[in-house]
Order: sequence, then C-alpha cells, then structure tokens
Amino acid sequence: MRTQVAIVGAGPSGLLLAQILATHGVESVIVENRSQEYVLARVRAGVIEHGAVDVLSDYGVGDRLHREGMRHDGVYFQWPGERRRIDFVESCGHSVWVYGQTEITKDLINARVADAQQIFWSVSDTAIHDADTGQPRVTFIDSDGNPGTVQADYVAGCDGFHGVSRATIPDSIRNVRERSYPYAWLGILADVAPSTDELIYALHPDGFAMHSMRSATISRLYLQVSPDDDIANWSDDRIWAGLSTRLGIGGWNLQSGPTLEKSITPMRSFVSAPMRWGRLFLAGDASHIVPPTGAKGLNLAIADVKRLGAALVAKYVDGSDDLLDRYSGEALERVWRSTHFSWWMTSMLHTSPADDPNREFMLQMQLAALRHVTSNPAAARDLAENYTGSVLPYP
Ligand code: APR
Ligand code: PHB
Repeated sequence: MRTQVAIVGAGPSGLLLAQILATHGVESVIVENRSQEYVLARVRAGVIEHGAVDVLSDYGVGDRLHREGMRHDGVYFQWPGERRRIDFVESCGHSVWVYGQTEITKDLINARVADAQQIFWSVSDTAIHDADTGQPRVTFIDSDGNPGTVQADYVAGCDGFHGVSRATIPDSIRNVRERSYPYAWLGILADVAPSTDELIYALHPDGFAMHSMRSATISRLYLQVSPDDDIANWSDDRIWAGLSTRLGIGGWNLQSGPTLEKSITPMRSFVSAPMRWGRLFLAGDASHIVPPTGAKGLNLAIADVKRLGAALVAKYVDGSDDLLDRYSGEALERVWRSTHFSWWMTSMLHTSPADDPNREFMLQMQLAALRHVTSNPAAARDLAENYTGSVLPYP
C-alpha cells in the first residue's frame, strides 16, 4: 500500500498528526501495535495548555473538550499548615483545561473513523526501512497474521517511549540526555466528586501528593512512592490514609470513594535528539519523556505534532522544505523548556529518600521555593507562564 505519510503509533501524537494532515488533504496511514479497546482504556494525564486546546479546536476535535472539560484559572500549592493559590489569569492572562487524555484519544479516533481513514490496529513486528533514502517504508504483521507494507514519502515516529522509531536512528547520530528520579507516582482514579475546585500540589515530609480530577464526579489523585514499590503493597485504605495525611489541612477534608484504577509509574527525564533522520520525524514520547509534575507530556506531544503537521503540509502545498528542515531544532527548544520546568517542579515538590544526607536541607529549600513562588508576583508569573504553556509561542 502507498500513502503520503506513514504514521507509527495511534496515541495522541499519531492520531492528531493524521487529523492535521487530513484537514489539509494530505493522506496518511497509521499502524498501531495495541488494539483500539486497549488504547481507549489507558488512563493518562489530564491538563491541557490553552495553546494545545486551540490546536485541538482548530482541527475540529475541541467541541467535547469545551463542553465537558473544566477550565482552571489557577492552582494550589500546599505544605504542612499552608495552602496558597496561584492565579494563572491574574499572573499571565491564560488558563488551562482539565480533560482526560483518554477523552482526547476517543475524540481523535472518532474523527478518523468519520473520515474513513486507515488505522491498522493490533499489528506486530513494526519496522521502519530506508528512512535515509527517498523511499521509506513501514512493514508489519497485521491483526490476521498477514505481512503488510506501507510505502510513503515520509514516516512519522509517534510510537511513544517503547516504540521502534527512535531506535531506527543510528546510535552514532542520536544524542540522549536523561535522568531518573528516586521516586515514582502511585496514581488512582476514584469514583468520588473532587474535594477541591482546582488542582492541589502538596509537599509533605511523608512525600508529595496531588489532587486532580477528571469530571464533577471522578477524581484523580497521586502519591509519591518509592520506584521499587509494588502496587500490591497499597490497599485502598492505605492509599486514602496517605492522601488524607499529605493533603490534609485544617478545615478541609478529603472525600474518599471507590478506586476505579491504580498503578505506579516511574519518573524520568529523557530527551533524544535530533528529532529527524532523513525522512523519519519523531514526535511526542518517542523522542522525549518528562516527569508528570506539571503535566507537560501530552502538551509537548501536541506542540510537536502541530509543528510537524505544518511542516509536512508546507511541503505538499508549497513544495517548501524549509519547515521540515527547521522541525527538529525548533521543536527541541520547547522540549528543553518543558524538561526544565518539569524537573524544577519535581525537585520542589518531592521529598528525598530517608537515607539522603541532604534531605532536611532540601526540605528547607523546597519550602523556601514554595513560599517564594506563591508570594512573589514575578515568580508566580514565571510559574503561570510555564504551567499554561504561554512561555513560548505555539508553533
Ligand atoms: N508499532 C506500532 N505502534 C506502537 C509501537 C510499535 N512498535 N510501539 C508503540 N506503539 C504505540 C503504542 O501502543 C501507543 O499507542 O504507539 C503509541 C504511542 O502513544 P503514547 O505512548 O501515548 O505517546 P504519544 O502519542 O507521543 O503521546 C504522548 O502520551 O504517554 C503519554 O505522557 C505521555 O501524555 C503524553 C502523551
Ligand atoms: C492528572 O490530572 O493526571 C495530572 C494533573 C497534573 C499533573 C499531572 C497529572 O501535573
């Protein structure tokens, strides 16, 4: 089979890229190694920068987000005995939207189905060939066990951190910068109305905790745990007790409820550059991972894909290579900004392991940083610009 752009991966990056291309009359085919049901059931992040909301709206997948999503004009930061709010609108004139990545994925898949666009679900053995030539190809085994080939002008590697695209780029060309953290997030989805109107990020001597939400009746909460901890060690009662201690503050109570999903996710910062090799372009988690503090992962993916989509459309419509040539360098500027912000938020809010000799010193640094950012207008503005994504223009 032949198409203009072969897309590997049907996460938010691959699906949104296909949507952008289709809007401008550029053909694509997606190959995805999971089933559609699996992709639709994954629970992921849920805070969308205003610029990312604009991209989704511009490409016809913003209606439900505007109807069912929640606009948040601020965020709470907390430490023992104190909860303070940063007002995004007052600080920088922008807001964020709280709307699950799962819902964005659903909206994008529905748009693909409505356009009768091709997605091969449940493939195996995906491989990218000849990306450094004029005739790249993606091969795979389809869900019936038959071999398939997609010949294309370009390949978009949108297959996340564990995909094959990044590894297609020779080691001699790839530059990886990474760090791991001595903690992880235990996340739960709970069938209970949020106990807060806006997100709460809390520093506590027992570890970080966060209160987020998905709707008026569904809450999303997180606890800092050790990266080698096992979810089997965490009964629902133990999770709620931990959340209640770490998020508790005088006069406010955390409401608990049935747990719908729970899992532990390790945290890392990772950037692989360049984001292009010949006719292969990487976007989203295939090229970079941020720790979740600050919710940048999905937003970075949307910014990459907007930029890549525009570059491919410019090539097909105007015959210009200029944006394709600038893609990697310009996308990486936002990637490093978000990597820094996520690392900084993570460092400010997570307690060091008990055996770290710098732990008590670091706690004082963290408290000083939290007091400063929630009281100094210039510091609050910097946080608000980074959090809402307005710190850099959207591509
Ligand atoms: N062949 C085909 N598809 C693959 C392969 C492969 N070899 N390997 C992985 N995939 C698929 C995955 O199953 C997944 O559906 O690629 C998709 C990648 O999607 P994501 O991991 O969601 O990455 P991305 O679309 O870049 O979205 C980034 O998602 O993971 C979160 O925190 C991240 O919010 C961020 C956003
Ligand atoms: C979420 O709602 O899942 C969420 C919110 C904010 C974060 C990370 C995750 O920083």
